[in-house]
Amino acid sequence: MTAQIIDGKALSKSLREGFKTRVAQLGAQGVQPGLAVILVGDNPASRVYVGNKVKACEEVGVRSFHVGLAADTPEAEVLATIARLNADPAVHGILIQLPLPPHIDPRRVLEAISVNKDVDGFHLYNVGGLVVGNTIFPPCTPYGVQLLLDTTGTDVTGKNVVVVGASNIVGKPMALMLLQREATVTICHAKTRDLAQHTILADILIVAAGKPGLIVPQMVKQGAIVIDVGINRLPDGKIVGDVDFDGVKEKASWITPVPGGVGPMTVTMLIENTLRSAERALRMRQADDYQDWEAPVIHPVTG
Ligand code: GUN
Repeated sequence: MTAQIIDGKALSKSLREGFKTRVAQLGAQGVQPGLAVILVGDNPASRVYVGNKVKACEEVGVRSFHVGLAADTPEAEVLATIARLNADPAVHGILIQLPLPPHIDPRRVLEAISVNKDVDGFHLYNVGGLVVGNTIFPPCTPYGVQLLLDTTGTDVTGKNVVVVGASNIVGKPMALMLLQREATVTICHAKTRDLAQHTILADILIVAAGKPGLIVPQMVKQGAIVIDVGINRLPDGKIVGDVDFDGVKEKASWITPVPGGVGPMTVTMLIENTLRSAERALRMRQADDYQDWEAPVIHPVTG
C-alpha cells in the first residue's frame, strides 16, 4: 500500500481564500484585524517563522505589527510592550515567539498577554480550557493537525492515537484535543522506554519530537495515519520531518509530507485565531452591555 498524501499546503490555500472574505466583512464594519508579533533576540529559525507569519497576514489583509526587541531587553520592558499591545484596539492578537532568551521567564510573559488576544493559545486560561474541553483559542499547530486529520474523513472516536513528544506547544495540547474527541490517547516522550511498542499500536501516529528519522517503517502499524510535525534542517540544508517518509509511506494509509504538511497549517490557524479574535472584539463592542473586558466566550474545540 502507498499512502495518500495529506496536503497541508492545499488545505491552507483554500482556508486562506476564505479568510479574505472574512477580512472584507470586518472591513465593511470598519475593522481591520491586526496581529502583533514580538521577537526578542535574533534566533535565525525564529526570524524565519516570524517572517512567514507576517507575510501570511499581509496576504489575507490582516495588519501585522512586528515588534523586534534586542536579545538583552529586560523582562520588564517585554512586559511593558505586552501591556501596550493589550491596550491597543487595533491589535486583536499578540504572539511572542518562543524560545525566549534565558533571562526572561516565558510563563510570566505568556500570562501577561490578554486572554482576549492570546491567539497562540498559550495562556493558562486557554490551556485550562483545553483540559475541560473548551477553549477560546486552540493552539495553532494541534488545531491545524486536527483539520488535516478531518480531511481524511476519519472518525477518531475510540481510535488508538499515539502522540510522540510532550511539549506544551504541540504534544500536550494535541493529546487533550483528541481525548476530547474520545480517542484513546498515549503520549510518548524522550524518557519513554521502547518507543516502538507504543507506536506500533497507533491507528493515528502524531510525531512532534524534533528528531529526523525517528520513526521508521517497523514502528508503524499497517494502514496507520501518520502526521509528521517535525521540521528539521539536515547538514546539507534539506528540510525533513521526524518520520522516514519514503519508508513509512509504503505502510501508512495517509501521511503528511515535510515540507507542505503541518507547517503551513500552523500559520493558517494563527490567522484563523486572529480573525476570530477580531470578530469577537467587534461583537463585544456592538453588544448593549459592552464592557472593556468580557468573560471569554468559549468555543468547543471540536467545533
Ligand atoms: N516557537 C515554536 N513554535 C511556536 C509557536 O507556535 N508559537 C510561538 N509563539 N512560538 C513558537
